Amino acid sequence: MRAAPALKSAVERIETRRLALQLARDQLRSRQQRNRLGQFATPGALARETLQYAHELLGSRQVRFLDPAIGTGAFYAALLREWPMAAIDAATGFEIDRHYGEPCRSLWRGTPLRLRLEDFTAAAAPAHPAQRFNLLICNPPYVRHHHLQAADKVRLQQRSVIATGVRLNGLAGLYAHFVTVAHPWMSEDAIAGWLIPGEFMDVNYGRELKDYLLHSVTLLRIHRFDPTEVQFSDALVSSAMVWLRNQKPGRAHQIEFTYGGSLSRPRTRGLVPASRLEAAAKWTGFPKDRGMARAAAATLGDYFHVKRGIATGANAFFIMTSEQAVRRGIPQQCLRPILPGPRQLQCDEILADAAGDPLLTRSLWLLDCRLPEDRIRRDYPLFWQSLEAARAGVGQRYLCSRRAPWYSQEAREPTHFLCTYMARRRGDGVQRFIFNRSSAIAANTYLMLYPREALAAFIGDDPARARRVWQALKSIDTQALIAGGRVYGGGMYKLEPRELMRIPARSIAALLRT
Ligand SMILES: C[S@@+](CC[C@H](N)C(=O)[O-])C[C@H]1O[C@@H](n2cnc3c(N)ncnc32)[C@H](O)[C@@H]1O
Repeated sequence: MRAAPALKSAVERIETRRLALQLARDQLRSRQQRNRLGQFATPGALARETLQYAHELLGSRQVRFLDPAIGTGAFYAALLREWPMAAIDAATGFEIDRHYGEPCRSLWRGTPLRLRLEDFTAAAAPAHPAQRFNLLICNPPYVRHHHLQAADKVRLQQRSVIATGVRLNGLAGLYAHFVTVAHPWMSEDAIAGWLIPGEFMDVNYGRELKDYLLHSVTLLRIHRFDPTEVQFSDALVSSAMVWLRNQKPGRAHQIEFTYGGSLSRPRTRGLVPASRLEAAAKWTGFPKDRGMARAAAATLGDYFHVKRGIATGANAFFIMTSEQAVRRGIPQQCLRPILPGPRQLQCDEILADAAGDPLLTRSLWLLDCRLPEDRIRRDYPLFWQSLEAARAGVGQRYLCSRRAPWYSQEAREPTHFLCTYMARRRGDGVQRFIFNRSSAIAANTYLMLYPREALAAFIGDDPARARRVWQALKSIDTQALIAGGRVYGGGMYKLEPRELMRIPARSIAALLRT
């Protein structure tokens, strides 16, 4: 039974006001301020879908609702639309910031909401089981660990241990602590839906949260939103909705993984045994884990040694156009060709002139000078002046100050094969593989793939063979690249060198068999 019609239209009116109010309150805050307290509201449609799904899980039980980070009440509004008032025994919300809490309070006056303008993580959980909640829905603040005060981190860790026995990693964000600290607020058999960044599924510091989900409660479902259809246009995170029941998991328990589309109509779904999750370092490959299934086979690391491109320490100083190099009086022997960043690189194959320099519309050069200072002062006074001007600033930066001389670079060989370090989804692909036929090296916006012995022997000096290797790299399954790396909101895909080396390499293996 849903809410009665008259009440329903009252709720609709309040919800219209709430949405306007949310917008107005957001606009009064800078993005930085909102970041600090993780203030990114749940879109109304998603909140509604969330509560509809919660209703399916909770069934016909009376509701005791808790939102530990209520904002203006997106989920509470959806609760009132979904359940009749008579079915709501209690509803409590926490909000730390009066900027959202005060209008929330006046908006929902006359409804069952008990709003507590407090820090949820500092509040004492109900001592009596009857006061606990059987429906906990929350979009907790996405505050990253480096924005948490050291003392707060220690306090949160202690509270998590007391609440669940789990000590969260020091790098865990505030949202992870919300999940664990909320544990004693749930009644036996309660349902919880947490809208949190999906990163915890892949990163090392998510391990303890995954342990909690696998052992302290029954993990029911994880829905990952497709980052290209991000739910929060203004928060750069990829979100997942984690559903659990406050009950110890049964044996042979399976978890539903869904991806893309919406909560009620996901694009893909699959059941994954808990034992499989236990063994998997990363969960974002589920349910589609074709890439993982092949992980036992050869990987790119068997054929390539992968390194990030060089970190110059100050690209604006060390990387320049030919004209800038001339103006600064830098001799050719102190310059090496370097590729422009992926966004400026229009083509995926880089041709070279007879000297090996890349044929690009805009050539860039890297200052990499090993000449001693007295020689530069004597022979290249203009260049000397520019170094002197930068010595106290650029020269003192961490990386530069550790080099000798500070205006030299790490010795690095060029390679035929490059891969973008971060990429946006384009059509069917994510990362771009670049075929570099020049002697240019690359900065750390690329990964550089150096063929190991067997592959280097296969290529020899034959550009046609190198091209076939490039084509084999380009044929790697996009899903395998996505599953092996990390995904950020707004559809940003990142691959660390070690992650790229773990990607299955069937196409390269097949090439070597020819
Ligand atoms: C991601 S927003 C979600 C707001 C709302 N529930 C929604 O879904 O639209 C998180 C909210 O938690 C509040 N918040 C941040 N830290 C908090 C804390 N320690 N205790 C209670 N609320 C907190 C923020 O001010 C913000 O309003």
